Parts: sequence; C-alpha cells; structure tokens
Amino acid sequence: MLFDWRLIAVALLLASSQVVAGTAGSWVKRSLPIGSEWQRRAPATESVSVHVAIRASQNEIPAIIANISDPCNPQYGQYYNQSAIEQFITPSKAAKRAVDEWLSGHGVQKRSEGHDWFSVELPVDKASAWLGGADFGVYEHVSGKRKLHVRDYSVPSHIDEHVELIKIDGTASIIKEVDAANDITPEGNNSQGAPAEDSDADGDDDNDGMDASDGPCSETPYTVVCLRSLYNMSNYQMQAPDRQRILVAGFVGQHASTADLQEYLQDFTPERAQYNISELVNITDINVTHGFEANLDLQIVASNVLPMPVTFYYVGGHGPSKKINGQKSKNEPYLEFFSYLVSLPDNELPQVVSISYSDAEESLGREYATKVCDYVALLGLRGTTVVSSSGNDGVGSHELCGADDEFIPVFPASCPYVTAVGGTMGSLREQVGSEALMDYYAGSGYSNFFDRPSFQDDAVNTYMDTANKFRGRFNANGRAYPDIAMMSDSTAAVINGSTESFVGTSIAAPLAASFIAMVNDARIAAGQPVLGYLNPILYTHIAPTLGTFRDIVDGATSGCGGGAFEATQSWDVASGFGAPLFDPFRDAALNVQCPAA
Ligand SMILES: *[C@@H]1O[C@H](CO)[C@@H](O)[C@H](O)[C@H]1NC(C)=O
Ligand SMILES: *[C@@H]1O[C@H](CO)[C@@H](O)[C@H](O)[C@H]1NC(C)=O
Ligand SMILES: *[C@@H]1O[C@H](CO)[C@@H](O)[C@H](O)[C@H]1NC(C)=O
Ligand SMILES: *[C@@H]1O[C@H](CO)[C@@H](O)[C@H](O)[C@H]1NC(C)=O
Ligand SMILES: *[C@@H]1O[C@H](CO)[C@@H](O)[C@H](O)[C@H]1NC(C)=O
Ligand SMILES: *[C@@H]1O[C@H](CO)[C@@H](O)[C@H](O)[C@H]1NC(C)=O
Ligand SMILES: *[C@@H]1O[C@H](CO)[C@@H](O)[C@H](O)[C@H]1NC(C)=O
Ligand SMILES: *[C@@H]1O[C@H](CO)[C@@H](O)[C@H](O)[C@H]1NC(C)=O
Repeated sequence: MLFDWRLIAVALLLASSQVVAGTAGSWVKRSLPIGSEWQRRAPATESVSVHVAIRASQNEIPAIIANISDPCNPQYGQYYNQSAIEQFITPSKAAKRAVDEWLSGHGVQKRSEGHDWFSVELPVDKASAWLGGADFGVYEHVSGKRKLHVRDYSVPSHIDEHVELIKIDGTASIIKEVDAANDITPEGNNSQGAPAEDSDADGDDDNDGMDASDGPCSETPYTVVCLRSLYNMSNYQMQAPDRQRILVAGFVGQHASTADLQEYLQDFTPERAQYNISELVNITDINVTHGFEANLDLQIVASNVLPMPVTFYYVGGHGPSKKINGQKSKNEPYLEFFSYLVSLPDNELPQVVSISYSDAEESLGREYATKVCDYVALLGLRGTTVVSSSGNDGVGSHELCGADDEFIPVFPASCPYVTAVGGTMGSLREQVGSEALMDYYAGSGYSNFFDRPSFQDDAVNTYMDTANKFRGRFNANGRAYPDIAMMSDSTAAVINGSTESFVGTSIAAPLAASFIAMVNDARIAAGQPVLGYLNPILYTHIAPTLGTFRDIVDGATSGCGGGAFEATQSWDVASGFGAPLFDPFRDAALNVQCPAA
C-alpha cells in the first residue's frame, strides 16, 4: 500500500480575511482554520513549498461549460481553441506585475509556474517573513497523522485581490506524506507492490473457477482480446484515427517502455504491432524510472486504439524529489499536468486523457483540489474527456480508517468534470471488484469538496435508500462516483520482457479512455464534435438509452470499518451505470434526440 495517511474528519476551510495595519504598508490577514482534532505540536523547521494561484477571470466557466457539454444547447461542441482559452487562464498584466514585485521584494524565486499559478520553495523563516509573520507549524491529528499547516498568514493589501494560497507542503522528514497512489496491484501475495512472480500468460495457473467458458476470456490473465469482447468493442474499425489524440498520464516518477509495448502488441494484437506510439513526452525535469503502472496503462490504450496517435506523458512532480532522512518529499503533479495540457497548441491537444492514479481528497486539500478541478473544466472547454480510476480502496482503506469511520473519497475521480471508472471482476457475470487477497476493493464514494452536479440527481437519488445505511459517514450532497465500471481483475501487461498479471481500477481507466476515443472516432466520421466533457451527455442521454450499459448488480465497494456501497439495479455508487457496451453506446452517442425547441 502506498497510502500512509490517516482519516481526517472533514473540516470546511473557509478562508477569512481582515485588513490589519502593518509597519511596511498594510497587510491583509487571512486564516486557514484547522479542525479541533488537530493540535500544533512543533514549529516547522525545514523548508516549505507554497503553491499560489493568481486569480484570473474564471467566473463564467461553469455557465459556459454547461452549455458546451449539453447536447441540446446551440453551443454544444463549440470547443475553445488554444488562443480562445487564454482569456480564462491569463491574469491581468497589473496582477502579474504586482505579484512579481511582491516576490522579488522578498528575494523569493518561483520554482515552477503556469499561466495563473506558481510555486516556491523556501526555508521556513523566509516563508514566514514573506507571508507577514506566518506561523508554520507541524500539526498532529488525533489519529497520529502529521502535517504542515499555517493558521494565519498575511499578504500585502495591494496583492490581496490577486492571490490565493492554495497548498503548503512540508519538505521536512517529519511530514510523512505520499505520492499519488497508482491504482494497480501486481498479482501475487505481495502488498508492498514489489514485482510479482511472472504469471503464466497461457493461463495454466487459472484456478479461480470464474471463467470456465471457451472464448477470449476463458483464461487469465486477461488480455486486450478479452477486454474488447467484454465491452462489445471487438469489431469496431477506426474510421478517422488521425483526427484525434489520446494521452496516458504517468505520475509517481514512472515512464513506459516502448520495447515492452512492442512485445505486448506482438503477443496480443499483432495487427497493431506495425504502429509506433507517437511519443513519450517528458514534461518535468526530474528523474523517472520504468514502472508497472506506466507500462500497463500504455499497453491497454495502444493495443485498443493504434494507429490513433498515443502519447505517454510522464510527470515527475513540481520539483526535485528530495530525500531527507530517507523520506521522499511529496510530489503532487496534478496542477502542473492539467495546466500544461490546457494550454497545448490545437494540434497537440489530446481529446481523451487516461489517469490511473488517485489521492485522498483530504490529503490534497480543498483549495488545491478545486484549482485542479477548474483546470479539468477548462480541458472540457477545449473538448477533452478526462477519465480517471476510482481507486483500489473501496469506500476507504481498511487499515487506515479514522475513529468515526468516515469514508474517504479520492481525487481526481471526485472532480465532477472527470469521468470516473470503477472496477469489476468476473468475465461471465461481472460484479464489483474486490479481492481480499490482493487487498483490492474498487473505489467509490461521494466527494466532500465538490457538490453533486444536477444531472446526477435522478441517478443518485434513486440509490439514496441503499446508501443511507451509512448516513453521516459520507457527504450525501457530494459528487458521486464512479460513473461507469469496467474490468479490473487479473489483466496482463508486459514488464521488462515478461508477461505479468495485475488487478486494480488502473486497468479500467485506460480501457474506458480507449472506449471513449473509439466513440469519438465514430462521431468524427459522422461529422459530429468529439464528446469532450462526457458526464452531462452520459447521464442525460446515453445511459438512459436502452442497452448502452450492462447493469452490474452484485458486489460492493468494501472499506472503512465494514462500510460498503452495494451494487443494485440501475445506477449505484458502487459501479455507476455499470459496464458500457460499444455498439449501443456509440449509436446512442450518434443519435441524440432533443426536445423540439
Ligand atoms: C447558455 O445557453 C443559453 C441557451 O441558449 C443562453 O441563453 C445563455 O446565454 C448561454 N450562456 C452562456 C454563458 O453562454
Ligand atoms: C480560435 O477561436 C477564436 C474564437 O472562436 C477564433 O476567432 C480564432 O480564429 C481561432 N483561432 C484559430 C487559430 O483557429
Ligand atoms: C500471504 O503472505 C502472508 C505473510 O507472508 C501469509 O501469512 C499469508 O498466508 C499469505 N497468503 C497467501 C494466500 O498465500
Ligand atoms: C455488439 O452488440 C450488438 C448489439 O447488442 C450485437 O449485435 C453484436 O453482436 C455485438 N458484437 C459483439 C462483437 O459483441
Ligand atoms: C517504430 O520505432 C522504431 C524505433 O524507433 C523504428 O525502428 C521503426 O521504424 C518505427 N516503426 C514505424 C512503423 O514507424
Ligand atoms: C526528462 O527531462 C530531464 C530534463 O530535461 C532529463 O534530465 C531526464 O533525463 C529526462 N528523463 C527521461 C526519462 O528521459
Ligand atoms: C537523476 O539520476 C542520476 C543518476 O541516478 C543522478 O546522477 C542525478 O543527480 C539525478 N537528477 C536529479 C535531478 O535528481
Ligand atoms: C526492469 O529491469 C531493470 C533492470 O533489471 C530493473 O532495474 C527495473 O526495476 C525493472 N523494472 C520493473 C518494473 O520490474
């Protein structure tokens, strides 16, 4: 398990401001309240990294994206190009100048930046002086988890309207936080995520009794041939593969191997082995290593969609992955990643993005998660569908639940602009994925940070009677996820030349991303816009069309203190609408009926 955080009761961190007179001009004091279950234990001593957002004019975004993604609105599919999106991410010149002067006046240098955000890393005393005497402290939760926090800080009053402090990370060894968790587990009895034994790709070791039929799913580990047949994707021929791009995200310092990809294609989809993926792009300047997650995600996408251009981006984080006393500092690359994508030139922009990583919302913080989710909305404005796995910890990891057993939603699945994919198992009768042996439970839940979008109301309300068993342990008004679910059990990937088997929603996300890219292909060929921000059309038109999903009615997303959301008939928070079926889904996406105006 990569998680080492503990459950934190959810506290609304509402920043409050008041102007106070300072010696060098006036300052505006701001507060970042922290729940009473946190106690300040010690002053922070080493360096801190602070992410700051410069306010740009983003107020109209929710209204615009609502229109652009509503298939019955005249603006549907009129996506923004690179120059048109700039208006939403470019702070005023005056704001930029004021902020730059504020930094240079304190000798503070940016360590990384985007259009409307930057981060700095500096020693605590310097950070404190820069933020008007801010008291950075190490806070301890009742559960034992520690984090860096600052209750009060100040910014000069002429800066106040321009900036928002969105995230503070400690780099000191005392702050044990973790990287984004990748959502796969190598099969084999190894909870540390170390390489599993090679499993036999011929399936001689298949003894789970689940898949006794003949056919492409009769043996495990499953390959792309089985996965495609399960979701009715087998017979689709790409019609316009050069008219869109798909991107696979690689975090936690992993990159993918083209040699392993070639071998996977040769073994399982030889007809695609003649193609190369378009590129491996390195968007940050830190070291990355060859990894399981990266290979699995890329192999699933490439084997489904080549010759469509496939790009693998590896994002190492926002700075050097410093080790202090053997602890790696926290790397949260979401902001860098999404802000980078939003401003890509039109001919490099991916129309589908696959992410197989998740973090506890609470570990990212409300301000940061909100900023990142705003960027996902901007990608929606550009016509990009972002797909993410729902995590492998059910409603919250078994070992790590807090005293009150509140469920622990994960991000980015919890962002309403993301299409979240849950996990299933069993190829004859799919059920919600859970494998006690592998410590894998398909993730699901209700966001504590993001409200439920109205198009989810009908679906979520019908499930409320079932969910209410756990009332009080989740935010019933939150964005509920996953939206759909796909296979997450015993799936093959080639790693360092040998075929190994994996479980986890990391399998489902690249599969779903491939599925959506294929539906996009049909739409492009029919002269229709790509799907972009998918969830509105999914909830209002596609899922309500008969036959577009195979309902998943068995299994539950177990977790925290015996909590578990059960699958039921129709939409449920364990599996969303269930397993998508290509032909009917595509046809529904091509033939949206709108009420006469
Ligand atoms: C959204 O669409 C409606 C209906 O066409 C229109 O009246 C409204 O002005 C649009 N809003 C924005 C922000 O474009
Ligand atoms: C980008 O979109 C704007 C607004 O729709 C349009 O005026 C402009 O010509 C477009 N630019 C390109 C390069 O297509
Ligand atoms: C997994 O490993 C643990 C610890 O080594 C052992 O106790 C357990 O029996 C193993 N489980 C299986 C199914 O092999
Ligand atoms: C896909 O689904 C359609 C409609 O349900 C069916 O006619 C067709 O046989 C299916 N194709 C495959 C390859 O499963
Ligand atoms: C794929 O890449 C390899 C190695 O870079 C190269 O030798 C080969 O010609 C490429 N194949 C195609 C079809 O572009
Ligand atoms: C990524 O880029 C950085 C700097 O440009 C370089 O040092 C590093 O080696 C690259 N990593 C890989 C895997 O190519
Ligand atoms: C990357 O790795 C190499 C070899 O391990 C090391 O020499 C170099 O300092 C590392 N660079 C960074 C930025 O960590
Ligand atoms: C692949 O092999 C190299 C060299 O033996 C090793 O360093 C690396 O950890 C291996 N990668 C994986 C994902 O097993």
